[in-house]
Amino acid sequence: MRFTPDTLATLTDPRTVISGDLVRIPFELDRNVYEQVDRALKEMGGRWDGRKAVRAHVFPHRIEEYLRQCLAAGEFSSRYDTGWFPTPPALAVQVCDLAGIRPGDAVLEPSAGSGALTAEIARRGGVIDAVESDEFRADMLRQQGDCRRVFAADFLKLDPLEYEEGFDRVVMNPPFTGGLDHILHAIQFMKDDGVLVSIMTAGLMWWSDKKTEEFRDAVEEVGGEIEPLPDDSFAVCGTNVRTCLLFLPGYAGGPLRTHDWLMRQPRQLDLFAA
Ligand SMILES: C[S@@+](CC[C@H](N)C(=O)[O-])C[C@H]1O[C@@H](n2cnc3c(N)ncnc32)[C@H](O)[C@@H]1O
Repeated sequence: MRFTPDTLATLTDPRTVISGDLVRIPFELDRNVYEQVDRALKEMGGRWDGRKAVRAHVFPHRIEEYLRQCLAAGEFSSRYDTGWFPTPPALAVQVCDLAGIRPGDAVLEPSAGSGALTAEIARRGGVIDAVESDEFRADMLRQQGDCRRVFAADFLKLDPLEYEEGFDRVVMNPPFTGGLDHILHAIQFMKDDGVLVSIMTAGLMWWSDKKTEEFRDAVEEVGGEIEPLPDDSFAVCGTNVRTCLLFLPGYAGGPLRTHDWLMRQPRQLDLFAA
């Protein structure tokens, strides 16, 4: 959800204190502006504490880093908008450590949001292609300058065969709804000896539908792992959604179709070539 211009101006005012778990505005606001700011902070999970010693919106968790990302992006995840949950910095480091990104690796971030993961990948020297369906966030990614290319597109509609080569690493935190479809599609962009690491809703560990069960079997077969993340991993984003971390190592000829697997298949047109 986008901040209104007045809310953004108030929260980025140098006099506004954003520290630890609270946001304090120590100056007078028009009633109408106050209501906009109050609404946004409450939608993010804050509550007004009017006690004389506090007089601030207080959150049940640290808000500082997350709010910094929100203000840079001009938007926040509210209770009504569940699409954008930026990966907290410590988790971004953990994900990139697990992926083992090396300088020069071609890395795909297929739902890049406002760049929480791309910033960490770039810091390690990865050469990044990012995809983000939201035009506003895609523009932000371009301005950050961490990526070789940014596509403002629906990742699920991108054709892996448009790429001549697969990626060394795929690092992702896809939307929590439909995340497995994003992961299955992303595998088709990965080299046989690539690595994919994804944050995913914890349901991946126990959902009993056929697609998820087959996926878990395939992960096990190729020596991958799905580990639960701590319950409060996304608490700083105001959500208690439980998450897990998928690690998929390189493999050849396994049950999951990589980019190399697709490239090995005879192309329809080749069948008719002289
Ligand atoms: C959970 S957020 C994570 C953002 C980023 N990966 C991170 O770790 O901070 C998911 C992002 O996926 C984007 N998204 C949702 N559906 C998409 C799609 N079909 N193609 C590309 N991006 C998509 C959303 O706009 C949102 O920014």
